[in-house]
Amino acid sequence: MSLVEEFPGVRVRAPGKINVFLAVGGRHHDGYHELATAFQAVSLFEDVYATYAEDFTISVTGTVDLAGVPQDESNLALKAARLLAKETGYPGGVHLDIRKEVPVAGGMGGGSADAAAALVACDALWGTGLNSAQLQALGARLGADVPFSIMGGTAIGTGRGDAVNPALARGRFEWVIVPNGVGMSTPRTYGELDEMRGDAEVADPEVPVEVLHAIRSGDARQLAEALHNDLQAPALRLRPDLREVLEFGEAQGALAGLVSGSGPTIAFLVEDRSDAGALEARLTMAGYEAIGVHGPVHGARIV
Ligand code: C5P
Repeated sequence: MSLVEEFPGVRVRAPGKINVFLAVGGRHHDGYHELATAFQAVSLFEDVYATYAEDFTISVTGTVDLAGVPQDESNLALKAARLLAKETGYPGGVHLDIRKEVPVAGGMGGGSADAAAALVACDALWGTGLNSAQLQALGARLGADVPFSIMGGTAIGTGRGDAVNPALARGRFEWVIVPNGVGMSTPRTYGELDEMRGDAEVADPEVPVEVLHAIRSGDARQLAEALHNDLQAPALRLRPDLREVLEFGEAQGALAGLVSGSGPTIAFLVEDRSDAGALEARLTMAGYEAIGVHGPVHGARIV
């Protein structure tokens, strides 16, 4: 039996992310904000199995609460598959079986990772032969974080966060992630930031050199000093309960904590694996869900 007959499909794995630095600039007419961010792909993955089908369908399972995942046409992975078919003139469809590990509506780019994985998987399944830059360009039309999930590793994002360039990075950083049962809406967090800023002049965002140095050093203490997220203040204003988590983790051995993306997931940076284990245990004892992850990891790829 040929390989195709045994498994007539393609499996692609794409990572979630933490924005280790995120500066938000002015708001454009389309509602998007100018960003300067440093992404790190981390070891929570979305797996997408693509198999031949006449129509476009999905099924979703996973280790996370799936309540907020759209299972209809508004699902981003399904939109990704449709977009690729339209742009390449592929006449058929696909069934996407999505296995989720990244918290839903958590600020870690889970939905974007689904779209990234779907693009790479369908391109391989259908033999449409797009290169990574072409897939990233399609990804940018689906969501600002999609190009990074295709690229992976460590990257600087500008524009809407969708213009990504790899950054020189060394070593491996250990994190403890605390997901939250109640997801947050990304536009809502940005809207809260706009409200907080009012009419104040907003500077053009850029990633400070200290952040680039820290990423390049591989030194967790240096990176801990440089962690920053402009969306943290509005996220905490919308969800004051998150402050308690941040303070607890920082008091219990984290080098630093920050809100991941637009929230509500909290990411704690720790010195090494053993500190990660200790912090995980303390958070769990206190009743929080805690997951040890590391980064940077690879972008969307066939497994
Ligand atoms: O592109 P994505 O679907 O991830 O964006 C979700 C929402 O987040 C946008 O509709 C917008 O409200 C906000 N956003 C923004 N500026 C960005 C990225 C996202 O205002 N650069």
